[in-house]
This record gives sequence, C-alpha cells and structure tokens, in this order.
Amino acid sequence: MIDAKGIHHIGIAVHSIDEQRPFYENTLGARFEGTEEVPGQQVRVAFFALGPPGAEVRLELLEPMSDESPIAKHLAKRGPGLHHVAYAVSDLSARLQALKSNGIPLIDEKPRRGAHGNAIAFLHPKGTHSVLTELVEPGVY
Ligand code: CO
Repeated sequence: MIDAKGIHHIGIAVHSIDEQRPFYENTLGARFEGTEEVPGQQVRVAFFALGPPGAEVRLELLEPMSDESPIAKHLAKRGPGLHHVAYAVSDLSARLQALKSNGIPLIDEKPRRGAHGNAIAFLHPKGTHSVLTELVEPGVY
C-alpha cells in the first residue's frame, strides 16, 4: 500500500512560468515560493502555496528547459494543463519495492532527486487509471 499522507502538490505543465505566474499569484491568490531547476529532468519548476502555513497545498508549474525534457514531449502531445498528482509518503524506497512486487508498473523503480531535496518517483499511468502519479518523500537529500 502507498499509505499516502496527503496531497503533496499538483503538477501543471506550462510553456512559460513567467507567463502564467500572474494568474496563480494575482488572480488565484497563491503565494509564489520560487523556482528551481531540476537538470536531471531538464525542467524548471515553480511552486505556489495556498492555505495556512504548515497545512498548505502546493501547485507545481513545470516548464521544459530543452526539447529533451519529458515536459516538452508532454506539451507537444497534449498541450499545457494538468500533468500529475503528487502524494506525500514515508519510506519511498520500500513503497516502490512493494508496488513493484505487486505488479504495479513504475516509471521510476528507485527514488530520485526532485525539487527542494525531496526524493520522488513516478508511477506509470497505466497502473493508476491514467493519472500520472508522483510519490514524494520530503527532505531526503
Ligand atoms: Co511534481
């Protein structure tokens, strides 16, 4: 079992963080928390937070840094919009092993480094009823 502790963030694929930032910040009223580059995925991410500190929900905008980025491929195929749902978990390595031995298809069989020093892994949408699903173990690296 994944035993999700909550929604960690919702990922949204965008062509340009700068272009969309005013909507999230000024129209929606979310707090901009900064951007970070994740070179391994050739992606630049921006986080926005909603809700009280300690219990906030975050939105993650993902902008490709090159045509090799999985986000560039997603944008080319499906255009901008909802990309993934990320759940907070503990013991990510053990969860992935258990999922694998239960036959759940994984994109990442081992945790890798995401933004903010979090360990992350993606499950394959064919095992999650077509919703690209990310598991996040905060603050590992
Ligand atoms: Co994410």
